[in-house]
Amino acid sequence: MAQQKIDLEHLTEAVKAVAREAGGFLRSERKSFDRGRVEQKAAHDYVSYVDKASERMIVARLHDLLPEAGFITEEGTGAFGGEEYCWLVDPLDGTSNYIHDNAPYCVSIALRDRKEVLLGVVYECCRDELFWACKDGKAYLNDEEIHVSRVSELDQAFIELGFPYRAEDYREFALQVVRSFYGHVGGLRLMGAAAAELCYIAAGRFEARIEAFIGPWDIAAGHIILRQAGGRMTDFGGSPECLDAREVFASNGYVHDEILRQLRTQRDLLGEGQEMDK
Ligand code: IPD
Ligand code: CA
Repeated sequence: MAQQKIDLEHLTEAVKAVAREAGGFLRSERKSFDRGRVEQKAAHDYVSYVDKASERMIVARLHDLLPEAGFITEEGTGAFGGEEYCWLVDPLDGTSNYIHDNAPYCVSIALRDRKEVLLGVVYECCRDELFWACKDGKAYLNDEEIHVSRVSELDQAFIELGFPYRAEDYREFALQVVRSFYGHVGGLRLMGAAAAELCYIAAGRFEARIEAFIGPWDIAAGHIILRQAGGRMTDFGGSPECLDAREVFASNGYVHDEILRQLRTQRDLLGEGQEMDK
């Protein structure tokens, strides 16, 4: 078995500083943001010079912290060549929100070894909220411990939906999800920044989140933060192996099984798209 060679607590402190630095950069660039320099990667999937600069800065800082680790990043800076450790980085989650000067948007950084995610840090820039957790530890918002809500009634559940860019593959499923939950749950919301939204469940603000066709950089940090706060994340079939899966259902745990029952029956409406690139 591989030996734990790194001091996770120490490393997490350093990663928190990196996330805050990148978040400060995003906030300050927003003041003079040039919409003319936004590019389209795929239909309605955008990237700007700010995403790219934020990623270059984060990758340089993380490389200094742990030179032996590889990288899987949304905008392709750095590379993963089978190293024991790997950083998963979204330098700006909520790019469309950012472009439209809408909240929330955040920086998401996770570190995994060959077996599991070891630490996760999400910095939500608009509310100046730093969420973080390490394997076997507690989950925090700034310096306060956070926990999922104990809401167990579907009728009370406040649920976040994610609409991935791959509309053709997701449309029928999304419509069915809205049809079955709208009017039967505490509320449905679309916020536009998956990493922050997972943290909102961890902090007890929401009970669940449903999306598919999403990248590991969007969810790795939020996943460990949610788990250490008492929550649960699976695919729509209930498998916990969902980090690289195309389906991601996160919850406070208490409403999980009941919502899963409904998702399982709707699952065959998902398109046949390939799994997300890693
Ligand atoms: C997106 C956001 C959005 C989610 C998309 C993601 P990006 O990430 O998290 O909420 O619905 O699936 O791709 O492009 O803003 O980094
Ligand atoms: Ca992004």
